[in-house]
Amino acid sequence: MKTIREPRLMHNESEGFRSAGKRIALVPTMGALHGGHTALIREARTRGDVVIVTVFVNPAQFGEGEDFNRYPRDSEGDLRTASEAGADILFAPETAAMYPPGYQTFVTVEALSLPLEGAARPGHFRGVATVVAKLFNITCPHCAIFGQKDAQQVVVLRRMSRDLDLGIEIVVVPTVREGDGLALSSRNAYLSVSERREAPVLYRALRIAEKRIRAGERSAAAVVAAVTSEITARSSASIDYVSVADAETLEPLSALDAGRTLLVSLAARFGTTRLIDNIHIRIE
Ligand code: PAJ
Repeated sequence: MKTIREPRLMHNESEGFRSAGKRIALVPTMGALHGGHTALIREARTRGDVVIVTVFVNPAQFGEGEDFNRYPRDSEGDLRTASEAGADILFAPETAAMYPPGYQTFVTVEALSLPLEGAARPGHFRGVATVVAKLFNITCPHCAIFGQKDAQQVVVLRRMSRDLDLGIEIVVVPTVREGDGLALSSRNAYLSVSERREAPVLYRALRIAEKRIRAGERSAAAVVAAVTSEITARSSASIDYVSVADAETLEPLSALDAGRTLLVSLAARFGTTRLIDNIHIRIE
């Protein structure tokens, strides 16, 4: 595996792959690579002749007072993990190479960026869309692999790829979980021992939602109430939001009609650590 730090060099390399007729699969990450990221890299391996993994902790997607400075960084571990999972190139640019002085161009996917994570983290998806557009332009991929863990991110980036005629296929990999159900996340490293013990309540609550809906519950408010009470009764977590929305449009739903795919999603804080999780449920 080769490491590249300069956007210009990365672009030249990718142009070389393209003119040799190779298919490029991209996996964008912020590093501190774990089993969720390696699932994406393995998926990329099955789809591309060349697999590029990017590691860049993108300041533009962190709000004021969020964890940009303390976000876990592990460049040696990332090198090893990406290489073992099958990456050919690790692209890890410096911040100044991505956002040089005078930088002022941003990509906004409008309505889809507003609810859920967008409401809780204003400007977050503007930062995500901008950096991913830049990474797409630098690496020239045919397809890019993302995790279902960040469901709204996938919806926003799919829209961006369509709206800007990027022609890049957005591939989604299911959420990878610990044995107790907790979704793998770089932010799990912040949890204290007792918070870590409590955190699987998030996925348990989502499974309760699924069970209720499959048993015929058609009121979104009742589903939200069941998820909320499971979390608050069984843990010290404080809830940011619990939502039942249309999985494609992200519109909040009140009645859960047949023929839709639902996105049941939530964000909650354990102490200062903010975790998100979600499930998709198809109602036939
Ligand atoms: P990051 O949080 O590092 O995640 C990189 C990719 O890994 C995302 O597509 C995310 O959904 C996926 N991922 C994380 N945890 C996962 C899990 N448990 N199971 C499956 N996939 C998982 O998401 C970002 O970085 C950034 O916003 C980025 C797209 C790189 C733009 O900066």
